[in-house]
Amino acid sequence: MVRVKAPGVVKLFGEHAVVYGKPAIAMAIDRFITVEAVKISGGDVEIISRDLGVRGIYLRIIDGSVAEAKILDNAYAAKLASYAYRAVEVTRRFLGVRDGVRLTITSELPVGAGLATSAAVAASTVAAYSRELGFELRKEEVAKLAHQVEVEVQGAASPMDTTTSTMGGLLYIKPGVEVRRIAAKLPIVVGVVERESTTGDLVARVRKLYGRHPGVISRIMDTIELLVNEALDALARQDLELVGELMNVNQGLLEALGVSNRRLMELIYSAREAGALGAKISGAGGGGAVVALAPGVEDSVIKAFKAHGGIGFRADVWEEGLTYIQ
Ligand code: MEV
Repeated sequence: MVRVKAPGVVKLFGEHAVVYGKPAIAMAIDRFITVEAVKISGGDVEIISRDLGVRGIYLRIIDGSVAEAKILDNAYAAKLASYAYRAVEVTRRFLGVRDGVRLTITSELPVGAGLATSAAVAASTVAAYSRELGFELRKEEVAKLAHQVEVEVQGAASPMDTTTSTMGGLLYIKPGVEVRRIAAKLPIVVGVVERESTTGDLVARVRKLYGRHPGVISRIMDTIELLVNEALDALARQDLELVGELMNVNQGLLEALGVSNRRLMELIYSAREAGALGAKISGAGGGGAVVALAPGVEDSVIKAFKAHGGIGFRADVWEEGLTYIQ
């Protein structure tokens, strides 16, 4: 039996633009998806979760078809199961194996909120399944396979979430070009409200907008790139005021891309009013997660999130990324 945990990820700068090759800054946090893998006879894949969000899930997959399913009314749990199953398939193709496996998945994160739970499921499943079969993949290989999983399930995905969840830390990522660790310490509060759209739908919505207004949207993407690079300098100097200001600018550009909504804006304004230096969406938007930079006012921001119908929690950086528990 192998047990692996992979951290959730908050997106500080550059989401959506990163799908078009622009740089982004993301941070692995100290809340995890855990996957336990046990080899079973035959080629079946069993996926069990007791706490993905609300209720449970049990899936038995034989030759790519669901042979038995008990999914109790939880669309996000079902979605995460599809990432886990695809992660087994992608790993099988890579290693040239067909062994059966029972996966038990647990989550300390609100699932499907924009905190990279799908990336964490993909990465920890790839790592747990391969090690259970006696293979030792490098983290870079796990990150690559996990990204492949996201591309296959979602249609389009940048490597931001899978790289950050696997490698850990606060990272500057320019897809296919550079991954750089940033040493800054950030007092972060995460807020979550209900999600209305999936990441795949939101990425598709931005692509449509891009198609209708290529001149305007390409300039927004270029501006996001500029501000990500300025944020990198501000982080290096630990200039939190400037980092917060740039987060607010980034939020304005995400709003322009059409991925914000009223409930997210309520959380974002409530955080700013409670004294946060900056607050923005974390991830794809359409509801889900927001991230606030809140030095000294963490508790007030958490209270403000709760008063506006969300949940809130502090998050610390998790440097290690993917972690084998035993
Ligand atoms: C999702 O967490 C972030 C997006 O940029 C999509 C991606 O990077 O694949 C919206």
